[in-house]
Amino acid sequence: MKIVVLLSVTTIFVVSCLATLAYASDPSPLQDFCVAVKDEDAAVFVNGKVCKNPDMVVAEDFFFPGLNKPGNTSNLVGSRVTPVNVNQIPGLNTLGISAVRIDYAPNGLNPPHTHPRATEILVVMEGTLYVGFVTSNPADPALKNKLFTKYLYPGDVFVFPEGLIHFQFNVGKTNAVAFAGLSSQNPGVITVANAVFGSDPKINPAVLTKAFQVEKNVIDYLQAQFWTDIN
Ligand SMILES: *[C@@H]1O[C@H](CO)[C@@H](O)[C@H](O)[C@H]1NC(C)=O
Repeated sequence: MKIVVLLSVTTIFVVSCLATLAYASDPSPLQDFCVAVKDEDAAVFVNGKVCKNPDMVVAEDFFFPGLNKPGNTSNLVGSRVTPVNVNQIPGLNTLGISAVRIDYAPNGLNPPHTHPRATEILVVMEGTLYVGFVTSNPADPALKNKLFTKYLYPGDVFVFPEGLIHFQFNVGKTNAVAFAGLSSQNPGVITVANAVFGSDPKINPAVLTKAFQVEKNVIDYLQAQFWTDIN
């Protein structure tokens, strides 16, 4: 009897875990594919993009050329993300996956940012990267958010869990190149500095002086900077 109860409890646990997994990322496709059509002029919006008539779908809907080309890293942080998501490949609509190429000049930084809708798995092709992510606030207020870091070399793979703040820094003497897969057709990017100090309109400095525990002149300085977006 006890074994039966234990088995049923285990079954309920496993089933609820599976149910959670099924809803943990982009919606599952309900057909082979749902190639996105541009819907800027549509009067109604769906969660994702409207599907192209499958009879009109062509191979180009699933294709993006040129990811062998380096991105332009001539900017203040010395890096460039080339995205390949549903906006570049309409055939990714509803499929829950996308990719990026990231180029880093020497000392180039992909600054602290999060992807609100995706876990990222990064593969280093060239160069040496110092990478890391920080956990969300711990349940125990006596503890701090925990930082995980690693030095990565060509062939190394690293995972940035969904939603967590992360970064990559080129600490080598040469250019660095990485590719990454992301578990969303549209992962989104929130660059911390841009969102907090570069918003339009600006966040009231009273909010930021209190949040960061600094004088107003520090916030004025940060809000006056040009926060480049390398995505
Ligand atoms: C790279 O970007 C910089 C700054 O925007 C620009 O001046 C330069 O022409 C670009 N280089 C190439 C090869 O596109």
